[in-house]
Amino acid sequence: MTDRLIAAALAAREHAFAPYSRFQVGAALEDADGRIHTGCNVENASYGLTMCAERVAVFKAVSEGVRQFRRMAVAAESDVLTPPCGACRQILWEFCGNIEIVLVNPRGQAESYRLQDLYPKPFDVSYL
Ligand code: THU
Repeated sequence: MTDRLIAAALAAREHAFAPYSRFQVGAALEDADGRIHTGCNVENASYGLTMCAERVAVFKAVSEGVRQFRRMAVAAESDVLTPPCGACRQILWEFCGNIEIVLVNPRGQAESYRLQDLYPKPFDVSYL
């Protein structure tokens, strides 16, 4: 199952729209039914409106009514594997909780984390 998720993240990365940074990212989010929702980064000439691959995947799934998730794979081309940015960690915490995050690159390197370890002491609804 992890292999399928990693393959989906690597494939999603091929769709990245990243003409400005040239840093292509793919994400694949597995839901509780085993379905995979993918995303890639989508940049904009204004730069600030750029959307990360992870949030594209989460928002695609949520917009289709999916609310339960198991894990995400994030694929980028780097030797030190690329973790989700701070904004993505916050969004992932909101919708996915303490899921497993698998970081990969196209050369087959992979590392697995729990979101809580990447994002300790998150802000969430419990503070409202
Ligand atoms: N990016 C992602 O898609 N996900 C991350 O976790 C880190 C950064 C994108 C945003 C931008 O298009 C490019 O990578 C460089 O920051």
